[in-house]
Amino acid sequence: MSKKANTFQTPIGTRDLLPGESARWEAVIEVFSSVASRAGFSLIDTPIFEDIGVFSRIGEGTDVVGKEMYEFLDRGERPMALRPEGTAAVCRAFAQHRPPTPWKVYYRGPYFRYEAPQAGRFRQFHQFGIESIGSDDPDIDAEVIAVGWNVLQNVGLKKVDLLVNSMGDLETRKNYQEALGTFLKDHSDDLDEEDQIKVGSHPLRVLDSKRPATQSVTANAPRVNDFLTAGAQEHFDRVKDGLTALNIPFSVEPRLVRGLDYYTHTTFEFQSLALENAQNAVCGGGRYNGLIEELGGPPTPGIGFGMGIERLLMACDAEESFPVPSSRVQVWVVDVTDGSPARDLTHELRNIGVVADRSFDQRSMRSQMRSANRSGAEIALIIGDQEVSEETVAIRMLRDEESEQIVVPRNEAVAEVRSLLGLDS
Ligand code: HAM
Repeated sequence: MSKKANTFQTPIGTRDLLPGESARWEAVIEVFSSVASRAGFSLIDTPIFEDIGVFSRIGEGTDVVGKEMYEFLDRGERPMALRPEGTAAVCRAFAQHRPPTPWKVYYRGPYFRYEAPQAGRFRQFHQFGIESIGSDDPDIDAEVIAVGWNVLQNVGLKKVDLLVNSMGDLETRKNYQEALGTFLKDHSDDLDEEDQIKVGSHPLRVLDSKRPATQSVTANAPRVNDFLTAGAQEHFDRVKDGLTALNIPFSVEPRLVRGLDYYTHTTFEFQSLALENAQNAVCGGGRYNGLIEELGGPPTPGIGFGMGIERLLMACDAEESFPVPSSRVQVWVVDVTDGSPARDLTHELRNIGVVADRSFDQRSMRSQMRSANRSGAEIALIIGDQEVSEETVAIRMLRDEESEQIVVPRNEAVAEVRSLLGLDS
C-alpha cells in the first residue's frame, strides 16, 4: 500500500531548518566563527557518534549521561553514543592526536539529548563552542568568557546576565563534596525522593535539582566558595579581575555547579533575561582540568563553553535583534524568449561572483517580473525577441522607481552589471 506523502514528520524534539530561517542560521554561525577566529581559535570537527566511554566521563550521575544519552550497539556490537555535548569529544581528539599546546579550537554542529521536549529544549539541538586546552592561566578563563560575551554583543543581545563561580581545585572539590554529603544526609528526609538516592553517590547533582522540596533544602547547603583553597581563590580572583578589566559585567553565583561532572575552578553561564527560566541558559562553560587525563591523555588543563544556537536565536527573537538577513540575490534575469539567454547570462554572472537567478518554465513577463521583485534583486536584465534580434539586453534598476530602463549591447551586459553593482571599484 502506498503511504500518503505527509505520513512522516520530524521526530519529537527535532526541527527542519528551512530556507529563510536558514539564512539567519548561516549568519549567526558566521558571527561566531569570526569572533572565535579573531581570538585565535581554529575549527575542529569530530564525529557525531563516538565510543560510549568518551561520554561516560561527563559523569554517570548526570542527567546528560544517565538519562538522556542516545546509546546504541553498532552492527559490530560496539557500544556507541550520539554526542550529547562537545567537550568530551574534543578532549578525546586532543588525547588521540597530542597537538602542541595551547590548543584553541571551535566547533559547531548537532548534539543529542533525550530530554522532555519543550520550548527551547530539543532532542537534536545545535551548539557552537570553543575549547582552550593546555594552560591553567586564569587569563584564558577571562578570554574564553570574553569570546562568549562578544558573540552575544555581536548578535545585539542586551538582556543577558553572566553568572560565574569557582568549583576550586581537586582538594576543594573533595572537601566540599564531603561537607555537602554530610549536610544532605542530615536533611535527607526533606529532599524530594528522586534526589535522595543521589546523596551518597553524587551529592553535587542534588544541587542541580529543580524539584521544590530539594531546592528548599539546598538553599541552605554549604557553598563551594567557602572551601576554595588559597590557590583556587587566587585563580578565581584573577578571572574576576580580568572580566572587570574587559568591562564584562558579571555576578558571582555560588550555587552555579552546572550539570556536568568534569568542572574544576571557573564555571559560568550566560542567561537571557528575555527567555523563560527553564531555557534561559544560552551559553554555559567552565574549566575541566582532570578530563583529558581521564580520557587517557597526559594531565592537561582546559576550559571552554557551549552556546545553544536555537536558544541564542530565541533570545534574539525575544529582543528583536539579529533579523533574518535580506535576500542575497543581486540580479534577476527575465527572459521571455526560449530561456537560452537567461541560461547563459545567469551562468556568466555567477562566474564573476554575482548572485544571479531566473525563472523557469517559460513564464509570462508579468510573472517573471513579480519573481524578480520578490527576490529582492537590485537589477533585472530583461530579454525579449527584440533584444535577441538586436543583440541587446534591457536593464532595469528594481529598487529605484525613478530610474529609466537602459539598453546595452549583449556583449557589454555583464560589464555593465559589474559597474552598476560597484564591483569594479
Ligand atoms: P551545557 O550547559 O550542557 O554545556 O550546554 C551548553 C548550552 O547548550 C546550554 O547553555 C544551552 O544553550 C544549550 N543546550 C543544552 N541542551 C539543550 C537542549 N536540549 N536544547 C537546546 N539547547 C540546549 C555543555 O554542553 C558543555 N560541553 C559546555 C562546555 C564546553 N564546558 C566546557 N566546555
